[in-house]
Amino acid sequence: MGSSYEHIRKIVAETVRKACFSEENQYESSVWKFHILSVVKFSLILGEKLKADLEILELAALLHDYGAVLDENFAKEHHIHGARLAGELLEKLGYPEEKIKKVQACIYAHRGSIKIERKTVEEKIIASADAMAHITEFVDMMFLTFGLRGEQTVEGAVWLKSKLARSWDKIMPEGRVIIKDEYKVVSKFLDSAIAK
Ligand SMILES: [Fe+2]
Ligand SMILES: [Fe+2]
Repeated sequence: MGSSYEHIRKIVAETVRKACFSEENQYESSVWKFHILSVVKFSLILGEKLKADLEILELAALLHDYGAVLDENFAKEHHIHGARLAGELLEKLGYPEEKIKKVQACIYAHRGSIKIERKTVEEKIIASADAMAHITEFVDMMFLTFGLRGEQTVEGAVWLKSKLARSWDKIMPEGRVIIKDEYKVVSKFLDSAIAK
């Protein structure tokens, strides 16, 4: 990672952070600390392990939900809008076209709810890291479930358990190893609430 990359990374991170804290953001600003930065962290851990391109991973992780954060009309198709917006931003910053395409492919393929084939190791890592963050940032997921969605205890636990189970299914074996203990613990709490 050269110094010009450092400059680009800084601007990209600042752009996404600003969007997270903007009034326009339909989600809570906690998405920056508890989701985006967590996805960056897991992307880089998996990237080192699997000898993937860390630059591509870092930029894609920072930008993967940018579309949804920036404009709520983009939320449903935020993998498409996010890839487009990332392309515009990175091009403006003079990032090489070949690499932009790789970042865009990661963003496009990160959606768990949509069946998109993930071809490169970087695409697989971003989708895994996205799902890993849902499980490890359990407290923020509780805020989403019981705070923002206003769920009651058992209904919320059922909803959250199925959401986290879908996330777990999305994670590559190398990612599961890293967070298996957390998944066990949160599942235990949710199961205990559901069984009451
Ligand atoms: Fe997303
Ligand atoms: Fe995400």
